[in-house]
Amino acid sequence: MCGIVGYIGKLQASDVILKGLHKLEYRGYDSCGISLFNENIDDFILYKDKGRVNHLQDDFNYDFENHLGIGHTRWATHGAPNHINSHPHASVSGRFVVVHNGVIDNYKELTAKYLVGYSFESETDTEVIANLIESFASSYDVDIAIRKTLALLEGSYALLVIDTRNPHIIYAGKNKSPMILGKRADGICLASDLMALVGISDEYYLIEDKTFVKAVKDESGYAFEMYDPVGIEFCPVRNEVHLDTEEINKGGFPHYMLKEICEQPSVVRKIISNYAPDGKFIIDKEVLNLFANKKRIYILAAGTSYHAGLLGKVYFEKISGIPTEVFVASEFAYNKPILEKESVFVLISQSGETADLRACLVDIKKLGYQSLTITNVKTSTLAREATKYLEIFAGTEIAVASTKAYVGQVSVLVIIACVLEQDNKCSLLTEMGRLAVAMEAIIDRRDYIKELIKTRLLKRNAFYIGRGIDYFTCLEASLKLKEISYIQTEGFPAGELKHGTIALIEDGVPVIAIITQKHINKNTRSNIQEVKARGAEVIVISMNDIKESDDDIVLMDVHHILSPILAVIPTQLITYYKALDLGRDIDKPRNLAKSVTVE
Ligand code: F6R
Repeated sequence: MCGIVGYIGKLQASDVILKGLHKLEYRGYDSCGISLFNENIDDFILYKDKGRVNHLQDDFNYDFENHLGIGHTRWATHGAPNHINSHPHASVSGRFVVVHNGVIDNYKELTAKYLVGYSFESETDTEVIANLIESFASSYDVDIAIRKTLALLEGSYALLVIDTRNPHIIYAGKNKSPMILGKRADGICLASDLMALVGISDEYYLIEDKTFVKAVKDESGYAFEMYDPVGIEFCPVRNEVHLDTEEINKGGFPHYMLKEICEQPSVVRKIISNYAPDGKFIIDKEVLNLFANKKRIYILAAGTSYHAGLLGKVYFEKISGIPTEVFVASEFAYNKPILEKESVFVLISQSGETADLRACLVDIKKLGYQSLTITNVKTSTLAREATKYLEIFAGTEIAVASTKAYVGQVSVLVIIACVLEQDNKCSLLTEMGRLAVAMEAIIDRRDYIKELIKTRLLKRNAFYIGRGIDYFTCLEASLKLKEISYIQTEGFPAGELKHGTIALIEDGVPVIAIITQKHINKNTRSNIQEVKARGAEVIVISMNDIKESDDDIVLMDVHHILSPILAVIPTQLITYYKALDLGRDIDKPRNLAKSVTVE
């Protein structure tokens, strides 16, 4: 994953880069580093260490003129998160300095072929890149040395390179990992994500795969050059963005996660206003055409988005009547099932950058299939590369744990399913309005949940149980609880527990049961009795019309097919308050990153 920022221009480079790295910390945060041209001493400095950007910012000295630099915030792939493995990495002589996001699959082969006898400081694949450039630079111009190196790299990379002999250029290259270039009259910023450009530049350019870029300062000012894979210079398309700085502030909440949980009713309303501006769901005709005469829909996604996909299958089958299969992207990419010819692929991704999904997309395009990406980031790779995309309008999601994006994904899936329904009988629009009200009602009662979990969720492990669509909510709820609180949690089909896993139930083990559907109410309640009889500490989340007197969290009634969008909210709140109780790093849980750009 990792976040990279480079800057050349009139502003103090350290300010731009450190601010940018803060905004990109969602991409990885186990270590970070920066290299800057210090004009006072006419030389480059390099600071890096294990730890967060705050450490990089507060514990090093930036009290010198600097107008060119590159920075990095890391999510470790090769080698532990420590000082030595942190980026930037320098070549052996120190001449070339590189920051890298991605994974070079053939770095060992390249070392064996081109760098025999080199001694490396770190365990990273990035150091190999710096040294390849250096070795080619002994026989070629720097531009050629870098382009020769890029041509040899297999895998994913977004790279920034500086040649310490020339403090007027930043070089960049990319393949699969994202990178954009922001331009203002007095400088250029290169970064993994638009977020790093907030407050710096509204004008930006997307960098395509295998493009080689130079950001240069010359007599006339600051300019950039972009070259295609065969070395021909081209003019990229200019884009504009107006990022709402409010959106990326915590807005008075102690954590982004809580803010984003509380924003969910307004996400549903925003989706309604975008997809039903005139009191009726509408979807772009070209998107609908993707589904015309299709016998099957394949949904691909990862993590939380996969859980949204499981609900998507229910909606496409039950509302639209189209057979649908759902796959975890990392499995589908390398273990493809037999595919129906007349089908369409739906990719679900909050970030639109998930590498596992991108690998699938490349493959399905080769096979001639059309695709739709459902995403929160319309400028993302998966939005650009799929045949069509639809936005979920959740607004920037910053907490690593996905909450409002999940609700947005599921809501958009409901809407597509309704629009695809042949007889046009689906009337969920008013029901979605009611859903937003029910969501607000449970969010307003969050203090009650905060108190509840203090005495009821006390073990190292826990279970969520439910049947049918409630089971899918259980999967999402358990992922959330484990990733933020580190309590080992399993989501289980309630009726399946007795076929083995019930062996783990003993005194005090928390079992959270979700019951939103009338037709399985009695069955799930029998399963609750089975675990209670074995000592489980049971918490029941149910709907008003099927509640029992001692249920713990009772939700307002909503249309049964929309209930997963409501029932997930108390589970997010359970996660949030438990993690808070345990003193966890809520917005940046250990070992994770928001945008998973490595396979
Ligand atoms: C969990 C979470 C992850 C993501 C997964 C896919 O809270 O956020 O499981 O859902 O990494 O990411 P996207 O949706 O960006 O493709």
